[in-house]
Amino acid sequence: SKPTYKEAYRPQFHFSPPHNWTNDPNGLVYYKGEYHLFYQYNPMGNTWGHMSWAHAVSKDLVHWQSLTLAIPEDEKNMIFSGSCVVDKNNSSGFAQKPGQIPMVAVYTAHIIPDKSKPDDYLQTQHIAYSLDDGRSWTKYTGNPVLDLHKKDFRDPKVFWYEPGRKWIMVTVLPNEHIMQFHGSPDLKTWSHLSDFGPAGDISGIWECPDLLQVPINGQPGKSKWVLLNSQQFTMQYFVGTFDGTVFHNENPADTILRPDYGPDFYAGITYNNLPPGQDPVLIGWANNWKYAQAIPTSPWRSAMSLPRSLRLKKTSNTFTLLQQPVKALQTLRAAPTEWKNKDISKEEAFPAKGQVLELGAELIPAKAGICGIKLAAADGRAVIISYDAASQQVTVNRSKTGNVDFDKQFANVSSAVTRVPLQNGKLRLHAFLDKSILEVYANDGEVVLTTQLFPYASLDGIAFFSENGVTRIISAKVWPLHTIWQ
Ligand code: FRU
Repeated sequence: SKPTYKEAYRPQFHFSPPHNWTNDPNGLVYYKGEYHLFYQYNPMGNTWGHMSWAHAVSKDLVHWQSLTLAIPEDEKNMIFSGSCVVDKNNSSGFAQKPGQIPMVAVYTAHIIPDKSKPDDYLQTQHIAYSLDDGRSWTKYTGNPVLDLHKKDFRDPKVFWYEPGRKWIMVTVLPNEHIMQFHGSPDLKTWSHLSDFGPAGDISGIWECPDLLQVPINGQPGKSKWVLLNSQQFTMQYFVGTFDGTVFHNENPADTILRPDYGPDFYAGITYNNLPPGQDPVLIGWANNWKYAQAIPTSPWRSAMSLPRSLRLKKTSNTFTLLQQPVKALQTLRAAPTEWKNKDISKEEAFPAKGQVLELGAELIPAKAGICGIKLAAADGRAVIISYDAASQQVTVNRSKTGNVDFDKQFANVSSAVTRVPLQNGKLRLHAFLDKSILEVYANDGEVVLTTQLFPYASLDGIAFFSENGVTRIISAKVWPLHTIWQ
């Protein structure tokens, strides 16, 4: 059916394709005033297959315009995940006249020589270029640019490394739990630099690596290198140094840190070529391979997370990410409803409703109790964001939201466990509900949880609760948000 953007569960301020299946964001790059979002896409249907790169652009990372299919699959190979760079010096030689600047996409070609044996595949790295600001793409005739004769070797993230005046490519060997670094002067010839891993979480195969510099909060001009990867079914990151050849993890080796502790954040990568001074921006796929293809939406399936600005926070011996939804999202706010200085010792309804909203709250949680927020339907079904003072954990429980039976794992996949220490006795919760996606940022983005939900009835009631003690709500604010679709 024709997309209306008014379908049940259709996100109103998260990007989703007009129709069909999507998974990973690809080729995130800023160029000439546009934030490009390419994404894994099936041009033929609403489940995974025929993988190609689809394309949307935005001037503010909030409002998106869909463009025509950027890089279609070939006769023999699908176009898997990868990245995009702006080749300012025409190092690739793809420019056809002086002054022309090529955009170059670097992606994995997933090659199936014999269609009757789909498991006998090969993955190599290919490039394609655009000379019209990303509107049309030409595949390089010299592909592949990197072939290790490996079955699983994918998801190249390429960026320009100024100190060494060269391109760096980070890829994964999924089964070996290794991220590989390669270097190139021209995007066409690559040489191996070093390997990182196995490290951290190796419980699932590794995918979608990224390496980037992130500014340290409160230390102007200072930054560290962050190495990210997805490992089915979540993500992790390491923080340290990169000297143009080798990445060294400086965080404690036994600490596993995640950009998102919810069940639905995967394959996240960051923008290349952002204007000087802009903090890095991360976008992930708001879904989970465990049940991704079964979520009950049509004529599209899956969406991207909100774009998040990144900083690092230093605590004694560890650097952790601080993530903030990009500021431009505030332009969607309608007039808020507010509570100030209110003590609660049970559940109390907040005087606003909605399924497309932003919520900000500052709380002094009951000392030994559990407090939080319920987004609930009239029939009592709800998604519950709760803080447990004893364990200092924030969790999101979607098991009672309604439509959880489309896959037997969905209800049971809940948020990972991590601590959110109070700051001066206070907890800040910042949440975005967008029909079927809930993103919760705790304590200014120290911990983020992204959760999908598919309620039978609208979860449009809002309540705060406190069990076993008094919770002080210093302030609570709810903004209805405008849709980004016309
Ligand atoms: C991650 C992933 C990537 C791959 C792509 C294929 O979700 O499995 O490793 O390139 O999806 O669609």
